[in-house]
Amino acid sequence: MPLVTSKEMFKKAYDGGYAIGAFNINNMEIVQGITEAAHELQSPVILQASQGARKYANSVYLVKLVEAALELYPELPIVLHLDHGADFKVCKDCIDNGFTSVMIDYSGHSFEENVEESRRVAEYAHEHGVVVEAELGTLAGIEDEVKVEHGAASYTDPDQVEEFVKRTCVDSLAIAIGTSHGAYKFKPEQCTRNEKGILVPPPLRFDILEEVSRRLPGFPIVLHGSSSVPQEFVKIINENGGALKDAVGVPEEQLRQAARLSVCKINIDSDLRLGLTAGIRQHLAEHPDHFDPRQYITDGRTNVKAVVAHKIVEVLGSDHKI
Ligand code: G3H
Ligand code: 13P
Ligand code: ZN
Repeated sequence: MPLVTSKEMFKKAYDGGYAIGAFNINNMEIVQGITEAAHELQSPVILQASQGARKYANSVYLVKLVEAALELYPELPIVLHLDHGADFKVCKDCIDNGFTSVMIDYSGHSFEENVEESRRVAEYAHEHGVVVEAELGTLAGIEDEVKVEHGAASYTDPDQVEEFVKRTCVDSLAIAIGTSHGAYKFKPEQCTRNEKGILVPPPLRFDILEEVSRRLPGFPIVLHGSSSVPQEFVKIINENGGALKDAVGVPEEQLRQAARLSVCKINIDSDLRLGLTAGIRQHLAEHPDHFDPRQYITDGRTNVKAVVAHKIVEVLGSDHKI
């Protein structure tokens, strides 16, 4: 089938108490790992490209890679989504070039500016059969090489969500309830340590999520920054020349809980990066004589596929939902 929008997917996910995984794509092996897992588990999937990804790979390549996946897995509902579109111009470019969903991220601007730019994108997108995600509240972490310090992050204010959605006509809303981008989501001083010395982060603000859902019944909510930073990958990376100290993510059971509620889209990028890097580092450490990229990238791609399969079954609950 051709690319789809997330409209139908989100409705089924909302009603069924599960979420769709939105996985970031940057190259062929990542697209392959994600879509092989989605195909095997018969799970709808969102492939999302950030501005950094579009710059790295060239957007034309990314669109064609996704088209290849559509051809290989014609039964699979796939959305091609722009992640963190900075303004109307970037969103328009993606809408005009085959994306079926865009995010306008004006969350760093004032409420009124956010309303205005999101409304403008939604108007253009809807005229072209494309759906729009916007964001209210600010996540901590790194996005497109811009670092938001933990102190500068702010939770979504539930008092603003009805007005925002009504005035912008966006199709889904990303909210800030304590997740953050990257592999260092929480400062060690925000966490406790378990008996193995691993950091345990503070719980997500389910009270905010529930209040937002009460004010927007039936409306799909999005969680960014939802990697869990698997410690087995951190360990492999660190044992093979890496230096990831105190990397910590969002516990998976909290994401599963969010997926049962109004969260219909869960964004995961860092866990794919960790899996890919762990596979490559381990391969090269075990086979110092190898220099054929197909040999070591294969192990990275295998890990990407395993991460996605695990998320689909254990976190999102989206398997066999096509
Ligand atoms: O939101 C951040 C995503 O992980 C994309 O990251 O901008 O480095 O491609 P990126
Ligand atoms: P992570 O860094 O937690 O994987 O978040 C990815 C994301 O939100 C992409 O928009
Ligand atoms: Zn994000």
